[in-house]
Amino acid sequence: MKKKSSKSPRTQAIHGEFLSQSWEFSHHLIPPMTASTTFRLGSLERGAEGFSTFGAQKTDSPIWIYDRLEEPTTKMLEDQLALLEKGECAVTFGSGMGAIASTLMSLLKAGDKVVAHKTLYGCTYSLLTNWLPRLQIKNSLIDVNDFKVLEKELADPATRVVYFESVSNPILEIADLEKIASLVKAANKKRKKENQIYTVVDNTFATPWALRPIEWGIDFVIQSLTKNISGFGTEMGGAVIAPKEHESMLRVARKDFGAIIHPYSAWHILVYGISTQAIRFEQQQSTALKVSQFLEKHPKVQSVTYPGLKTHPQFKLAKKYLKSPENTFAPGTMISFQLKGDMKKCQKFVDDIAKNSYAITLAVSLGLTKTLIEVPGFMTHSAIPTEKRGESGIDPRAIRLSIGLENAQDIIADLEEALKKI
Ligand SMILES: Cc1ncc(COP(=O)(O)O)c(C=O)c1O
Repeated sequence: MKKKSSKSPRTQAIHGEFLSQSWEFSHHLIPPMTASTTFRLGSLERGAEGFSTFGAQKTDSPIWIYDRLEEPTTKMLEDQLALLEKGECAVTFGSGMGAIASTLMSLLKAGDKVVAHKTLYGCTYSLLTNWLPRLQIKNSLIDVNDFKVLEKELADPATRVVYFESVSNPILEIADLEKIASLVKAANKKRKKENQIYTVVDNTFATPWALRPIEWGIDFVIQSLTKNISGFGTEMGGAVIAPKEHESMLRVARKDFGAIIHPYSAWHILVYGISTQAIRFEQQQSTALKVSQFLEKHPKVQSVTYPGLKTHPQFKLAKKYLKSPENTFAPGTMISFQLKGDMKKCQKFVDDIAKNSYAITLAVSLGLTKTLIEVPGFMTHSAIPTEKRGESGIDPRAIRLSIGLENAQDIIADLEEALKKI
């Protein structure tokens, strides 16, 4: 058997584990797509073994039972994700929110507290502030880069999870992962095994091509596979990359919550998404730098936030954490900017793009081959109450750009055209 360990992540993203226990496909160049909701079991004994060992099955002889439990194509996708995020195992879900909700509900119980960064994707904010409190799970929203405040929260016996986005949506703050992980580890030394605090990091904006949080001591990594990893805007999916000892719990949670990914989506993400992610990300990133430099110089633009610009308030942290597996600076494909003037100007500009731009589309989601523009305060982050937007650092006039694979000059020309009209 050929060895994968000596190969670079760029090559591993294409060839994966090379041989998989999930499917015997020595004659296939591409793994087959399976679509069977249930599986033939050779004997009652084997069926009973499948149920009794579910979640803790040894992968050298997988027992497939029912799609909602586990499924071969999904398992191959999970092996690939674990490989790229440098984790021990991965469990996939029907969406990024499915992964976030299932992970948090697996780790927390009534009376516990999740300490989270104050700026979060809108639906994550809603999960923490609307849904988890119904189960008596408390939350505290802080600046996780304010270490004094964080240490105080870690000293609270109720704190069990520290949750944040490695690069925050939508304002592109960089979390100091190494420092946060070390503070949590220090706090855990004073706690019993059953009361450990876990770090859970949403790495969707960065993707494993720009940042691998586990390398910095983080426990659980979340990905919305709907975004850059699938990349074409056709699939929904989510994943948590986790320590092996939590795999069983996460698989049982997925089974009971029913938050599974469809094998068709798993296949597309595995075959088309993962194998092309590095090259898409690099191209989009090189365009993002050009677009952010154009915006920064434009007289009608008040401010631009892009981790690749020296003016990013955490440029030093960006340089430390945002690196491709080949050790090149990887500031990503997302830009946030504000125009001079009031909300009316912002609206006029965005409406003009929606109506007249060819290369830029007004739409939510991100990381796709098409460049997308949106206004988070009124769209993706509208679940955050208006009076809390200030605390979250989300200016209502902030505009988010997700850079696609179009020619950079065409994107810039469309922005320039719309800027002329305000
Ligand atoms: C940072 C981040 N995390 C999680 C999600 C949720 O992902 P999904 O839409 O796949 O549920 C999103 C969606 O936009 C996101 O931007």
